[in-house]
Amino acid sequence: MPLAVLHLLVPKKHDRYYRTVMIRTSFDLPPEPNSDSVKWQFARRISDSLEPYWVADMDFAAPEPVVDAVRKRLENRLLGYTFAREELYTSFAEWLETRIGTRPASHWCMLPGVMAGVRAAVSLYTRPGDSVIVQTPVYFPFMDAVEGQGRTLVVNELRHDGNRYRFDFESLETAAAAGARLFLLCSPHNPVGRVWAAEELQQLVDVCRRYGVLLVSDEIHGDLVMSGYRFVPTRGVDCRGLRLLTLSSATKSFNIPGLPSAIASSDDESIIRTIRDRMHRIGADTQNALTLTAVEAAYRSGAEWLDAVLSYIADNERAVRALFDAGRLPVRIEPLEGTYLLWIDCTRLSSDDVTLRAELQKRADAWLVEGSKFGSGGEGHLRMNIAAPKDRIVAATERIVAVLEDIS
Ligand SMILES: Cc1ncc(COP(=O)(O)O)c(C=O)c1O
Repeated sequence: MPLAVLHLLVPKKHDRYYRTVMIRTSFDLPPEPNSDSVKWQFARRISDSLEPYWVADMDFAAPEPVVDAVRKRLENRLLGYTFAREELYTSFAEWLETRIGTRPASHWCMLPGVMAGVRAAVSLYTRPGDSVIVQTPVYFPFMDAVEGQGRTLVVNELRHDGNRYRFDFESLETAAAAGARLFLLCSPHNPVGRVWAAEELQQLVDVCRRYGVLLVSDEIHGDLVMSGYRFVPTRGVDCRGLRLLTLSSATKSFNIPGLPSAIASSDDESIIRTIRDRMHRIGADTQNALTLTAVEAAYRSGAEWLDAVLSYIADNERAVRALFDAGRLPVRIEPLEGTYLLWIDCTRLSSDDVTLRAELQKRADAWLVEGSKFGSGGEGHLRMNIAAPKDRIVAATERIVAVLEDIS
């Protein structure tokens, strides 16, 4: 065969098609878990065969451009004190503008993680005993950030309309009118998988603005949005007159939570200054040079990897649904609009999600999270992380369905 024809047939390394295929193959064959992996080593403490589908990180290698950038940074061998350059925020701003379609806020600072920002905001903007609103079922450290700091947790439970979860505006308005000082939003929502629509966010913003409630928007899952849905950052709706703090992060999107960090941003300079001062006072204002390099590289060059991982997760979701459907169980899986965490309603099977989780751990070798951990409304549910190689997800789901069938 003439060389020219061969060239046409064999994809070249720089071809987009070649790269996408290579990325997808690597999701099927990830590296062995590290011996310091929280997800895997905690499972190993329980049993040799237990597979972890609990903590929210992916069993996939980080994007190649991110790893390359970190490697290059290390090769330089100078690892002196490092600050977050304006270029880092520019890379985030360009990502927001081109991928999400929203302009970034004017002021920002780096944080050691999203929860550091949540905890700092609660401590700085409320006093002991003040009310803070959360929407359960929700990422459970929110509860500790409020109650663990002596504030009063006010639950604005999400409502299910038979189709999907919705905000309960009546109860929100009551809580805000009663003097709540701060509202913790999870957008997209962990664990129910909703990607809130602009209209829903606007109504929420209007309530917070009306009562002078500070809105803290945790947008850590903002890039993990399935095809057909659009992530709207809270700042993307009309926020004039609202006190808003946004917490964003590259760690979930590009699977680098072992390089912890987050970006706090706001149009209110005093909020960012206050948060930055707090980080300084507790000695959490120093930066990890490798983390900064990774985050900037991710926002500049991670789009292709992210697209590939999202379509891989969508395939996994289809496979899990098909297996549950075939099992004809009285169980409903919420539509996965965002995140890679399936929210499985087992209430018609059992309201005792703790026992369900324990049974699956013991008999299906699958470690999921019991829904009640996420607060009221979570009872009788399970959360399953499906960002793992497909053959493993399929085999684990087969075992899960078999155990649930046995229980039902
Ligand atoms: C909604 C939400 N916020 C925050 C975090 C944790 O963020 P960080 O590790 O940056 O503190 C998670 C992790 O699962 C999460 O799901």
